[in-house]
Amino acid sequence: MTAPLGARLDTLKTESTATLKQVKDAAQLEQWRITYLGRQGAVPKLLKEIKHLSLAEKRVIGKRGNTLRQKLEKFYEQKRQKLGPMTTTTSTPSSTSTTTALPPEPITGHLHPLTLAIRRIQQIFSAMGFLIVEGVEIEEARYNFDQLNIPFEHPARAETDTFYLENKGNAKDLVLRTHTSPVQLRAVLENNLTPPFKILSPGRVFRAERTDATHETTFYQFEGLVVKDGASVSDFKGTIETFYEAFFGKRVSARLRPSYFPFVEPGFEVDLSCVFCRQAGCRICKNTGWIEVMGAGMVHPNVLRNMNINPQEHQGYAFGGVVDRLPMLRLGIDDIRLFWSGDIRFLKQFS
Ligand code: DAH
Repeated sequence: MTAPLGARLDTLKTESTATLKQVKDAAQLEQWRITYLGRQGAVPKLLKEIKHLSLAEKRVIGKRGNTLRQKLEKFYEQKRQKLGPMTTTTSTPSSTSTTTALPPEPITGHLHPLTLAIRRIQQIFSAMGFLIVEGVEIEEARYNFDQLNIPFEHPARAETDTFYLENKGNAKDLVLRTHTSPVQLRAVLENNLTPPFKILSPGRVFRAERTDATHETTFYQFEGLVVKDGASVSDFKGTIETFYEAFFGKRVSARLRPSYFPFVEPGFEVDLSCVFCRQAGCRICKNTGWIEVMGAGMVHPNVLRNMNINPQEHQGYAFGGVVDRLPMLRLGIDDIRLFWSGDIRFLKQFS
């Protein structure tokens, strides 16, 4: 019997990184690339097997597989640069040699700061035991609104706030999702998840906004949902502080302010102690020492019922924050519109 895919992935990771360390020249490096990353290489072969897994496993193992491939590609690239431009050396019996330098390397691109932020978020939450799930960008009104307890009259449902693809005033209307919260329902229902579970979903959302330095029509959110015995506000607070500490690499604390979101009860707005001034007061935190980072709350009983979960038996908490805000804070980017500007001078700073 072959070992489970997850274990084989781990072995492959250890083996491929160890052998890469042994590589001494360009020819060996090319051999290494063919062995692991080539079309018939070990990594693509393993990734092909993922399609035989269950949906839940597919998501987890698929992600890990892709991460490994990307890592190896990066290591390969680093090694290639370290070995210097490829040279062809011809030795003659009299031991004179001719070295011909190949033309300079083409300029290579790199990942977008938002992609880097999403990967970082996923890595941290994965390490905390969250399953990473994906939703859809074109969403039905029933998931984007109705089953999240957002009534028909709610202002967010107006065409002035939401991009509708179809608006007949019923649950089957199609919208560009206005938040990632519908993934809570989708992920639980589509995967038949039963408590306990922890899921996290990053993704793109859309709003009919007037744009300015802090508002865009298109941005990214990350949504978390935890349903388990003893899910509580203090559990949420600890979890989210752990996440932000890992993300910013600094000690931080979270502050919860009561707020209203129809799909949670109680609901709160989450502030983070300012990562710049350690609460001494600065421009970023507008001298308050706190930065608003996400909405959260204990999942409303109606929403739990819509997930086929009995609210008498289980509790959960949910949270949703804006991804774009994190690299803005971490890297000191002062205008959200830059992310979509396509301006290479901006992007080049964040390789
Ligand atoms: N979906 C909310 C928004 O876009 C954010 C949010 C608030 C998500 C509270 C949650 C939550 O999961 O519990 O503004």
